[in-house]
Amino acid sequence: MFEKLKQHWKVNGLNLALIITTFAVGGSLCGYAGRKLLALTHLDKGFLWIVLYIVLITLLWPLAVLIISIPLGQFTFFKKYIVKIFSRFSGKQTSHHTKTVNIAIFASGAGSNASKIIESSLLGSHYKVALIVCNKAGAGVMDIAAKAGIPSLLIEKEQFFKGDAYLPILQKNNIDFIVLAGFLWKIPGALIKAYPKKIINIHPALLPKYGGKGMFGHHVHEAVINNKEKESGITIHYVDEIYDHGAIIFQATCSIAENDTAATLAQMVHVLEHEHYPKIIAEVVQ
Ligand code: GRF
Repeated sequence: MFEKLKQHWKVNGLNLALIITTFAVGGSLCGYAGRKLLALTHLDKGFLWIVLYIVLITLLWPLAVLIISIPLGQFTFFKKYIVKIFSRFSGKQTSHHTKTVNIAIFASGAGSNASKIIESSLLGSHYKVALIVCNKAGAGVMDIAAKAGIPSLLIEKEQFFKGDAYLPILQKNNIDFIVLAGFLWKIPGALIKAYPKKIINIHPALLPKYGGKGMFGHHVHEAVINNKEKESGITIHYVDEIYDHGAIIFQATCSIAENDTAATLAQMVHVLEHEHYPKIIAEVVQ
């Protein structure tokens, strides 16, 4: 339940504890103040008393939680929360800018990038990881999804390459955007058409070099080292129907020393990926 709340409100564990405390203390304070105010009227505890009490605590509650939220550092959260409640009552929609974008992460491996993206979404981003899609039973990313309480979908090759077989599931989960993070199958045209400019990938080298079929994982880093490159890095790009080919959104580089190996290069590249991918996703989905 706590994991779901953390995800829903996009907060970390500490903030969730402070928010719950604010609800509890603010609620008690408003109940106490309501009873004290009603005592001034000398009314008997009958029907009228109950009606007045309900009206009073409804009015006092926003004020009480806002006051308590200040010393607990949760004012911004509660201000937004109360505005949201009022706009629901008044029938106004939340503005376009605050809409949460639901993303699906497609991954086949350990899922270290997926994990960083989930972490960042929980720390107050405007995107939510709503689904993890994986093609390998037992892949690390499935455990990450389970621990974070995120629904996951294990896909099957023949169905996937039909192109639109999994579209209804993506739509049912209200997926707005797809992020590939170590997903090795080529994305079929039907899926690209269904999500135009809404699928991005991260590649562990500086495209257009060291991309294309067969260029994944250690193969990329080995090729870079064998060619005695002086630098490598990461490329975040839109996905089109050709492997590692779509428009480049962002690149970051790292220098390669003479004694670097494919393994040390892989580590440097992972650091860059973890640092930049969540931030770039936040910018692109906006
Ligand atoms: C990353 O290096 C990414 O660039 C590539 O696949 C790898 C996935 O690593 N597309 P992880 O599973 O996120 O650790």
